Amino acid sequence: TSTPVADKEKEKEPVVVLVIGMAGSGKTTLMQRLNSYLHSKDKPPYILNLDPAVSHMPYAANIDIRDTVDYKEVMKQYNLGPNGGIMTALNLFTTKFDQVLGFVEKRAQTVDYVLVDTPGQIEIFTWSASGAIITDAIASSLPTCVAYVIDTPRTTSPATFMSNMLYACSILYKTRLPFILVFNKIDVEPHDFAIDWMKDFEAFQAALEERGRDENGESYMNSLMGSMCLVLEEFYNNLRAVGVSAMTGAGMKEFFNAVEECRQEYLKDY
Ligand code: GTP
Repeated sequence: TSTPVADKEKEKEPVVVLVIGMAGSGKTTLMQRLNSYLHSKDKPPYILNLDPAVSHMPYAANIDIRDTVDYKEVMKQYNLGPNGGIMTALNLFTTKFDQVLGFVEKRAQTVDYVLVDTPGQIEIFTWSASGAIITDAIASSLPTCVAYVIDTPRTTSPATFMSNMLYACSILYKTRLPFILVFNKIDVEPHDFAIDWMKDFEAFQAALEERGRDENGESYMNSLMGSMCLVLEEFYNNLRAVGVSAMTGAGMKEFFNAVEECRQEYLKDY
């Protein structure tokens, strides 16, 4: 059982933000933006890069998987394609993750945020054993949340929105961690439509059915969509949504407010 002293210690711990998103959603640009925002507040974060295949990283990571494993060498040695190479590189890195965690824990009293960039191909992290092992190891050591990055301009159609939200829901289900939906690129497309659909599932269902009728009027699809809307309504109850632009820096304050809420949720529930 925790004591008030232990609780105070926990309050001082940094919160780990796992930045996860589809390829091209803007994870790397967002990491750079979060990093420069925190530097401007005199609170530099501790940064982990778990993407072995990133060629250009516009920020400096404290721990970089590329310093430990060369995924191109792994591809050659094990005769693998690019995805197999990235996956194996992550597996190899996972065997050393206790040491990585040791470094993070050593710095835990001096930083407020630990930011983790994940591989560009989302499933390499979210559907692999090593992704799960790394996530569990981090989350059992420090308050942790998931920031799921969404390419807002590319998710304005109801069907794409639904698919993206179901994917996010599956990540919540697998990680069971405090969760933030980060609607990125709001400089191109404001995320109001998404908030409206999340608040009013009947409006969203109507938008989906409209499309269904236009295309083929299939009633099975409409009934399936209705059920999925109900699943999503439940999903939305348990998370926060913020709009940001990694490009312009809009929404940073809201983002960190959401991270703070996640920290509180973690301290209460985990
Ligand atoms: P992977 O490298 O495939 O993992 O992609 P990523 O998710 O790291 O995305 P990245 O940061 O490379 O961004 C993808 C593209 O989106 C780049 O052309 C960025 O310039 C652009 N981009 C990222 N964030 C924003 C944003 O907030 N606004 C706009 N307009 N473009 C953005």
